[in-house]
Amino acid sequence: MPQTAALDLDDTVPSIAPAEPAAKPQLAPTLPRALLDLAPGEARDSLLRIHTLLVAELPKGNLAIYEAGGGSTSFLPLNVLDRARITVVDIDEDQIRNNDYAQEPILGDIQTHRFAPDSFDLVICYNVIEHLPDVEAALTNFCEALKRGGLILIGAPNPRSLSGVVTQYSPHWFHVWFYRYVRGIKEAGKPGQAPFPTFFHSLVTPSRLEAFARAHGLEVIYRREVESPRFPEMRARKPLLAALVDALAATLNMVLPGKTDVRRGDYHIVLRKR
Ligand SMILES: C[S@@+](CC[C@H](N)C(=O)[O-])C[C@H]1O[C@@H](n2cnc3c(N)ncnc32)[C@H](O)[C@@H]1O
Repeated sequence: MPQTAALDLDDTVPSIAPAEPAAKPQLAPTLPRALLDLAPGEARDSLLRIHTLLVAELPKGNLAIYEAGGGSTSFLPLNVLDRARITVVDIDEDQIRNNDYAQEPILGDIQTHRFAPDSFDLVICYNVIEHLPDVEAALTNFCEALKRGGLILIGAPNPRSLSGVVTQYSPHWFHVWFYRYVRGIKEAGKPGQAPFPTFFHSLVTPSRLEAFARAHGLEVIYRREVESPRFPEMRARKPLLAALVDALAATLNMVLPGKTDVRRGDYHIVLRKR
């Protein structure tokens, strides 16, 4: 069941991001399938910038990477995946069975699964924290398992956006319907297939997550709120529905105070352990 969350949509925060956009042609051969499949737009652009950041910030040799709730696909650049030992922990048996890139796939719960301290150069938790009842426990485990100077990449839906509010306060069957009818994913909702039930712990809110991170010895080195990839997908697949949703978003943006953009449905944060 989702936790109660404020419906105040006016808590958008400025991005911390490298000034230069990623050079796409140079990066193209390093793109994983998950990123190639993502509709062009802000979310994809932000992930490309994160690829550049990871390549610059991670050690040059062999890497140890933990994908928490990694499922069966990775958003990491291929030139990082290629030199890494990947450990995936996922609670879903089918996701673990379908994972073909992790050297160590583990069926487990990221809220309770612990690794030896200083085990990993990078922890990635992408589109997962919104599914957890105890985000604090998961983050604490990530911090412990991370080497000093290591990075944590978190991607999640913004609870204070249009898509975030709809996702939080609508039943799971509606998410399955949306994935099947609007996104055109026929297998949606079947065992091992998204969408997975959501919880929306209060730490999913980016400003709270950032405050928690700072209080636990993590420095924010990248943060960006992006238009949910559902918008460009919808414009391509269901233009009439997209026009209605775009009109609703534009109206909300006009009436809400400040420079709110309710389309910014997702965010990406990269943290570094001090
Ligand atoms: C939306 S999928 C994202 C998968 C992958 N990170 C990606 O971006 O493609 C969410 C994943 O989180 C996993 N998950 C949910 N709760 C979990 C938990 N408590 N421990 C481990 N994995 C969990 C689900 O099984 C699912 O594979």
